[in-house]
Amino acid sequence: MRISTPAVLSLAGMSCTLLMHPQGDEGPSEATMEMLQSLKDAQAKVTFFTNATWLQYMQYAGVTRHAYMDGHLIAMTYRLPSDTSNGLTDNEIKEDIGRASRTIQDLIGVYPKYMKVHEASVKDPRLLDIVKSMGYTLVGFNLDEYDYKYNTLDKAGQIAEVYNSIFSKQQEAYGRKASYIVTGYDVPTTGAAAALPKVINTINAHGYDMVRLDGCVNDKYPYKKDPIKDNGYVNDAKSFGGQEYKHGQVNVNVNNYSPTAGKGPGHDNTSKGTTGGDHFASSATRTTAVVSAMLAVPAVLFSFFL
Ligand SMILES: *[C@@H]1O[C@H](CO)[C@@H](O)[C@H](O)[C@H]1NC(C)=O
Ligand SMILES: *[C@@H]1O[C@H](CO)[C@@H](O)[C@H](O)[C@H]1NC(C)=O
Repeated sequence: MRISTPAVLSLAGMSCTLLMHPQGDEGPSEATMEMLQSLKDAQAKVTFFTNATWLQYMQYAGVTRHAYMDGHLIAMTYRLPSDTSNGLTDNEIKEDIGRASRTIQDLIGVYPKYMKVHEASVKDPRLLDIVKSMGYTLVGFNLDEYDYKYNTLDKAGQIAEVYNSIFSKQQEAYGRKASYIVTGYDVPTTGAAAALPKVINTINAHGYDMVRLDGCVNDKYPYKKDPIKDNGYVNDAKSFGGQEYKHGQVNVNVNNYSPTAGKGPGHDNTSKGTTGGDHFASSATRTTAVVSAMLAVPAVLFSFFL
């Protein structure tokens, strides 16, 4: 099922009424690893938007493979070199996207289909047209968990409160649940990993389900056949409709965790093997204008972004 005619993923009319979907975005990183443990304990599946650049480092490649094996949907983020398509031919852009996609495929055996364009590249209509012509589905979000703002262990507790408040307001205003695609950033410069156990329990308490993106939009073919050409989609056993597909979650014991992430604005560069250190510094510079507009319309099934 194709769901992206405009550059917008519109969830209106979708059949899943209960959705929670913290996306790992900008990782993989040490924080992703920690989140995978919480998600496993909760038996929850989410979508990770992988930045292929980090996969050249073995430890992060391992994290992405781990995420895939655990049954999470692997999508990709894409950021244009120099943040502009100016000076690049269509083919050069396609090749660059194709390289990123192949890097992911080398690890997990399938090419991602769902893509989140980095905020810095979002206002580049030419890029968006190219991405769509390649058969990728662009993804937006309608709930920002603000993990980059609540980015220390102390503040990370506020993240669950963001969910709590949005869910409660929705219930008060409309007397029913809405659907949310939540964005979170799985890097140590945010509180995402530290907050996740409590976030999971908050989602559970409000009666929402955590769902991979394919399950949310009833897409049985959430991977591409080709990294560049728009020539169809494929699935695997864990895809929506497949034997190993799973959604929903159970409560976790929040006392079982001693978070190593969410330590503060600096990134955790002490435990790293060799390279990859620049990763976090740069990924902290994301998401401003688009993000702050989001919470103004929290309860609305979205048809915005991009
Ligand atoms: C990964 O993130 C870095 C930092 O934002 C960026 O320079 C790089 O282009 C990204 N890689 C991809 C494939 O988007
Ligand atoms: C970690 O990064 C900080 C800030 O970039 C730097 O001052 C510090 O020396 C780094 N530590 C290691 C072990 O590389």
